[in-house]
Amino acid sequence: RFTPRREDKFSFGIWTVGWQGVDVFGPATRAPMPADRAVRKLAELGAYGVNFHDNDVFPFEASAAERDRRVGAFRKALDETGVVVTTATTNLFSHPIFKDGAFTSNDRDVRRFALRKVMDNLDLAAELGASVYVCWGGREGAETGAAKDMRVALDRYKEAFDILGQYVLDKGYKLRFAIEPKPNEPRGDILLPTIGHALAFIEELAHPELVGLNPEVGHEEMAGMNYTHGLAQALWHKKLYHIDLNGQHGPRFDQDLRFGAGNSRGAFWVVDLIDSSDYDGPIHFDYKPPRTEDDDGVWVSAAANMRNWLILREKVRAFRADPEVKAALKEARVDQLATPTLAQGETWRTVRDFTPDIETLAKRGAAFEHLDQLALEHLYGVR
Ligand code: GCO
Ligand code: MN
Ligand code: MN
Ligand code: MN
Repeated sequence: RFTPRREDKFSFGIWTVGWQGVDVFGPATRAPMPADRAVRKLAELGAYGVNFHDNDVFPFEASAAERDRRVGAFRKALDETGVVVTTATTNLFSHPIFKDGAFTSNDRDVRRFALRKVMDNLDLAAELGASVYVCWGGREGAETGAAKDMRVALDRYKEAFDILGQYVLDKGYKLRFAIEPKPNEPRGDILLPTIGHALAFIEELAHPELVGLNPEVGHEEMAGMNYTHGLAQALWHKKLYHIDLNGQHGPRFDQDLRFGAGNSRGAFWVVDLIDSSDYDGPIHFDYKPPRTEDDDGVWVSAAANMRNWLILREKVRAFRADPEVKAALKEARVDQLATPTLAQGETWRTVRDFTPDIETLAKRGAAFEHLDQLALEHLYGVR
């Protein structure tokens, strides 16, 4: 029970368990973790896949020989464990050259180099079999007013996706891009801060079909948004290409807690939605083992992400199968929303003078509280 299986498709960013605990107030509390060690340990825990930044595998300054050696060790660990590369991404935020962003840096050389860095890693991603390429623009933004013209920055952001889309098409790679919105941190304000901003942006691109979303729990909740509703809208637009699962307590710094910690009621609805949707990408965790933990603690927290998903999955399935819930759903008329407001053949003329019994409608309760309490009782473990 609650043991991860391959078909659960759990995956982790290499940088999650590899995070050394460096924060704004203090240095590392843990030793560096080579990517191949992360792969082997994650495989032992039952993970199916991984996501990686170029510089999770080899350092920015690596010579060609060093890069090959590191990639070789990574690939060997993948082959030996059967762990799959589901996803890849680029580190366009750590190196000082990216301090004013990558695709939207005011400096043209930085922008040109950023494109090259992404193309280098797209080659590796394709070679390792990734199907999604995540783009988190953490440094694309500003702290001040006049230093960046946001409309022009969006021109450059679009230009970057158009160029990279063309690269993927010309190379024949089976890769799609997934934009990861975030409102702030590390920049004071980041471009494409929420799911909604990113969805609108994608429609302006030369190849919108190549670009979707990678929404993260913490990022939407930092912006005060309902993550499940955001996922639902992304699904509605057929743009949910990937998910970054973790935990967050409301609008504050990006906590990256393990999935299920933080807003656990929110997590219940996330699992409920994904479990009943046609999303077939990895169940991907992007969290940080807190700085307090040693190496053992890292693996305890990594395993807990998957365990919490499986626990919540059991709970949401029990919720959906509960006859009292079925009755409460009926009582709340949830099914009626699926009936189109106008029937076949009807037009605005049909309802132009529609006059229902206003008094009865106004008096009628929605019966949502009973339904929600049943969900909470499943979550609290008393049903
Ligand atoms: C964050 C982001 C990152 C990205 C990752 C992939 O810390 O705010 O979630 O973890 O997901 O860099 O590009
Ligand atoms: Mn985050
Ligand atoms: Mn983070
Ligand atoms: Mn993320």
